[in-house]
Amino acid sequence: MTKTVGSLPSVDLDLNDAKRRYHFTFTREDHERLPFYSALMTALEEDHTSLRLLASVRMEQRNPMLILAALHLCALTGHPILGPIYLDARHGRLGDPVGAASTVIAVLNDEPELVANELHRSTQTNEPGRSAIFQALIAHIARDRAEVINVVDVGTSAGINLYFDQFPVKRVDDDNPLTLVCRDETLVDRSIPLPRVSARVGIDPSPLDLDNEGDRRWLQACLWPEEPRRLDRLEAVIQHRTSWPTTTILTGTARDRLSDALDQGDANALTIVMNSYVVGYFSEVDQTSYFETMTQHCASSNVAWLSLESPFMVQWPTSSRSSELARMGATQVLVTLPGGEPREWGWCHHHGHWLNLSIPA
Ligand SMILES: C[S@@+](CC[C@H](N)C(=O)[O-])C[C@H]1O[C@@H](n2cnc3c(N)ncnc32)[C@H](O)[C@@H]1O
Repeated sequence: MTKTVGSLPSVDLDLNDAKRRYHFTFTREDHERLPFYSALMTALEEDHTSLRLLASVRMEQRNPMLILAALHLCALTGHPILGPIYLDARHGRLGDPVGAASTVIAVLNDEPELVANELHRSTQTNEPGRSAIFQALIAHIARDRAEVINVVDVGTSAGINLYFDQFPVKRVDDDNPLTLVCRDETLVDRSIPLPRVSARVGIDPSPLDLDNEGDRRWLQACLWPEEPRRLDRLEAVIQHRTSWPTTTILTGTARDRLSDALDQGDANALTIVMNSYVVGYFSEVDQTSYFETMTQHCASSNVAWLSLESPFMVQWPTSSRSSELARMGATQVLVTLPGGEPREWGWCHHHGHWLNLSIPA
């Protein structure tokens, strides 16, 4: 017999796989830093409805972050029980995170359709912290090579990293919500001037529009309530970007729109294609073909490629996972210069909090 959660069939759902996904998503550091989300993740892992909800998501989006974002969205859109809990979490006022997590699970069991109705969405967190990494890499690559560049951001979400050069990057935080704090390790020279950007082009099959209230809310929901700095930064980006340079967003997949994107901008400029936390969402066939396409473009034209991806989600044919940093959950920095081949340039934090470069000779 088929039992249902709302419209959710329970047959053929791999609940053990869902449990593993909840269990392994947060690092130890996340658990220590985020008392409410840590308690919630643990409670989701133990709850049958939560397991069934996650197990019902299409494979490429079967990520606990989607469930967390769907719940956060309900809170942001005024759910009478979730709203106050998430607001307290944002303002550090949650006295009993474990109790709050149990209340969220109780709401989820009473009203599973709240989350089920949002599972058609994708986790589209657009993390400006990665601009701190892109700034450093682009400065190093353009030095002695290009005064003008075109930038193509594959999997751009709301296009925030197309404004990579608009964020101040510092070692210590300040009052400016746009400031990105990045601890540079080894070789990073922040004094190298950035090139002028002629074109800023993003590609995404379902780009989010910062002018659209629903899209802005989903971007907020993809952030974590116990990280108010990131929520404040998103709000500051939404305010400031009206005075920032124009961007062009192409709707479609990397496979379908890359050549259109490469046709934009100054034909004599160096074009830098970048991707961050995107390729893991491609099918295996598309990952291979993207790697080959980018390698060929760089080998044969004035194109450079910067890739920031988790080695646990993306295994490039040329790269290793042997580093201690990789084991600690670091993001691999892969760079291909014009006329060159893909090379490992080191590691960075997934939200750009540190960069450890080891540029090959
Ligand atoms: C986790 S978000 C990362 C967004 C952004 N790159 C960042 O670092 O903040 C992944 C994005 O990749 C997009 N995406 C998924 N499949 C794609 C494809 N085949 N081609 C281009 N973008 C894709 C999704 O729509 C989503 O906006």
